[in-house]
Amino acid sequence: MPITVQGAIARSKGAPVELTSIVIPDPGPGEVVVDIETCGVCHTDFHYKEGGINDDFPFLLGHEAAGRVSVIGEGVTHVAVGDFVVLNWRAVCGDCRACKRAEPWYCFNTFNATQKMTLTDGTELSPALGIGAFAEKTLVHEKQCTRVNQDADPAAVGLLGCGIMAGIGAAMNTGNVSHGDSVAVIGCGGVGNAAVVGSRLAGASVIIAIDRDAKKLQKAQELGATHRIDSSGLDEDGVVAAVQALTGGFGADVVIDAVGRPETWRQAFYARDLAGTVVLVGVPTPDMMLEIPLLDVFGRGGSLKSSWYGDCLPERDFPMLTDLYLQGRLPLADFVSERIGIDDIEAAFAKMASGDVLRSVVVL
Ligand SMILES: NC(=O)c1ccc[n+]([C@@H]2O[C@H](COP(=O)([O-])OP(=O)(O)OC[C@H]3O[C@@H](n4cnc5c(N)ncnc54)[C@H](O)[C@@H]3O)[C@@H](O)[C@H]2O)c1
Ligand SMILES: [Zn+2]
Ligand SMILES: [Zn+2]
Repeated sequence: MPITVQGAIARSKGAPVELTSIVIPDPGPGEVVVDIETCGVCHTDFHYKEGGINDDFPFLLGHEAAGRVSVIGEGVTHVAVGDFVVLNWRAVCGDCRACKRAEPWYCFNTFNATQKMTLTDGTELSPALGIGAFAEKTLVHEKQCTRVNQDADPAAVGLLGCGIMAGIGAAMNTGNVSHGDSVAVIGCGGVGNAAVVGSRLAGASVIIAIDRDAKKLQKAQELGATHRIDSSGLDEDGVVAAVQALTGGFGADVVIDAVGRPETWRQAFYARDLAGTVVLVGVPTPDMMLEIPLLDVFGRGGSLKSSWYGDCLPERDFPMLTDLYLQGRLPLADFVSERIGIDDIEAAFAKMASGDVLRSVVVL
């Protein structure tokens, strides 16, 4: 029997988040229903609501979630009823061109539930990142569920499902930060501060946090940044000069743009050392354009990369990072700024904009 539960949707571009009844079908082959315990509020949910990702409204928002598998469909073997899982949006297919050339973190054909969740009038919902977890239950593909140690606080480890994994992986996987490197991180929200933590885990000796908001910089320092640059009064050249001043005049080995705007990407491009690496993990909107002298691209060399989900492999990385957190070696709990109800998501977007939180986490 299909189940009706409460969920938070974005009905049309820019409309406020709306709580409504959503219908979860019985799981089909390979699908499972997960009882959501917690789901973080990510900037990407805000992008969805504003029409910055695509126009497939209405969206069922939420995608940084932990919960327990409650019903499984035919042939499901990857998880069992009762398993504690973090949901992921990279359920590696094993068969696409990326998977076949042994680069599964780029998987171009990740698994999602085949059936649609709907409104009670039958309108099909687009679940954010194929998850849709601002709801008491959601329907996903079995491989979107990654089992982790159930001693973990769901509010903390659920964040591995998106932003915190993206930030850690932007440093450790995409940026390939290693011992003794200098790293600069532009934008120290949940994703950027996770990149600070990832850089520290990887052994970077200089970690420069850059933000326009002093509260975020304070948090970055608590999480391991060695230097801070308040960019609120600086132009692009000023930010670049400040990074160079902290790195012997050269620029950083790796600069991570966790904002995703043309001006922050240009800062990243020029603030890195010759032959250094730029990692774009912030997500731009479709209207944003970039103009840069091609000679500078050639002359500065190095590597210009994007980081989709921190180039993570959920089955490898979520259990490992959960263990590091349980051992006290990864401060995941510090990213949980507040626990809120499902009716507080709009207020959480406002707190995100005013810099008051790293993550608001909805408790279902
Ligand atoms: N690549 C991925 O897989 C992935 C995954 C999750 C989120 N994201 C994206 O990462 C970005 C950050 O997400 P978040 O949840 O951390 O957002 P957030 O709103 O919590 O943080 C953004 C931070 O950037 C700062 N900022 C904004 N403009 C700035 C500027 N011009 N210079 C310096 N700092 C500036 C803000 O003060 C804030 O601290 C978003 O674009 C989000 O969509 C990407
Ligand atoms: Zn694949
Ligand atoms: Zn996200």
